[in-house]
Parts: sequence; structure tokens; C-alpha cells
Amino acid sequence: MDAILKRHSVRSYSKESIDGATIEKIVHAGMAAPSAMGSKPWHFIVISERDKMSAITKIHPYSQMLLEAQCAILVCGDISAEILTDYFQQNCAAATENILIAATSFGIGSVWVGLYPNEKYRRDFKKLFNLPDNIEPISLVPLGYPSHAMQPSNRFDSSRVHANNW
Ligand SMILES: Cc1cc2nc3c(=O)[nH]c(=O)nc-3n(C[C@H](O)[C@H](O)[C@H](O)COP(=O)(O)O)c2cc1C
Repeated sequence: MDAILKRHSVRSYSKESIDGATIEKIVHAGMAAPSAMGSKPWHFIVISERDKMSAITKIHPYSQMLLEAQCAILVCGDISAEILTDYFQQNCAAATENILIAATSFGIGSVWVGLYPNEKYRRDFKKLFNLPDNIEPISLVPLGYPSHAMQPSNRFDSSRVHANNW
């Protein structure tokens, strides 16, 4: 609950680097997500090359935080690994949220940058990362230690909770 409630989008980072073991744990959290029929139709590209990060900002106008991020994780869906058709977005969304929560638990700031189902992002990311035909880019998570502290808001709203019926 602590990490879930603390998580918020962090778009400004310090220059402190993130060690490889921590990145691996964050990816591990992504792979711990639930998936339809246990299909696990995901792949994760850990991006640390500055040229690649900068190329992404030219494709995606809402990813400028990458210029400050230490690295980023591109969450991809493998359509050929699906057991139930068209669930790959939900499976990869679950993995993405796990990544955000795990990063928060290590004091690392992150933000969900949405890619799927935008056709232009899909085309340009496939080209930039040399993705095979069966692999779809779903989301991108820049990572970095936050440059300043921020308090998340409390969003609990009892009017959105229903008992047994609408
Ligand atoms: C599917 C999805 C796509 C998003 N795309 C972007 C994005 O492209 N750029 C960005 O800065 N934030 C993006 N966000 C983050 C949202 O803006 C953010 O989660 C929302 O404003 C709530 O703020 P919080 O994350 O601090 O709770 C995205 C979030 C989701 C779930």
C-alpha cells in the first residue's frame, strides 16, 4: 500500500545513476504481473543510450523527461505469445503498473508514457528499436531519482464504489 499510494508521475530527475541490480529488480516486478491465461506476452527493452533517448523525444512530444532520465524501459507486447487474442495491452499495462510501483518502492521516480494504440508511435518505435512484426510497443517508463520531493494526492472517492449493483 505504501508504494502504491506514494506513486505519482515524476518528470524531473537528478543526475544520480541507478545501479543495474535495481533496474533488474524493477524489470523482475514487471514480469511478476498477471496475464491472461498466464501467457506473459511481454518483452522489456532497457534503454540507456542517450542517442536513443533523444531520438524518442523527437517521435513522442510528451516524452521530453527522457532528456533527464537515467534510463527507460520500453514495455512491448508479443502478439504471437498471446493465448487469448487482443489481451496483450491489458497484460502489458499490468506489467507497466508493476514497474511504476517497484520503482517507487526504491525511491526512483517514473512516469507512464503511453504509446499503444497511436499508429505513428507504433510505426516509429518499431523502426527505431528494430522490433519484429509480432512485437508491439505498448508503453515507455523513464526512470531517475526525483529532482524534488512531491506529495501524491489522495484520490479515494467513495461515490465510485458500488455495492452489489450500480
Ligand atoms: C495510458 C497512459 C498514458 C500516459 N501517457 C503519458 C505521456 O505520454 N506523457 C506523460 O508525461 N505522462 C503520461 N501519462 C501519465 C499521466 O499523465 C498521469 O499518470 C496522470 O496525470 C496522473 O498523475 P500521477 O501519475 O502523478 O498519479 C500516461 C498515463 C497513462 C496511464
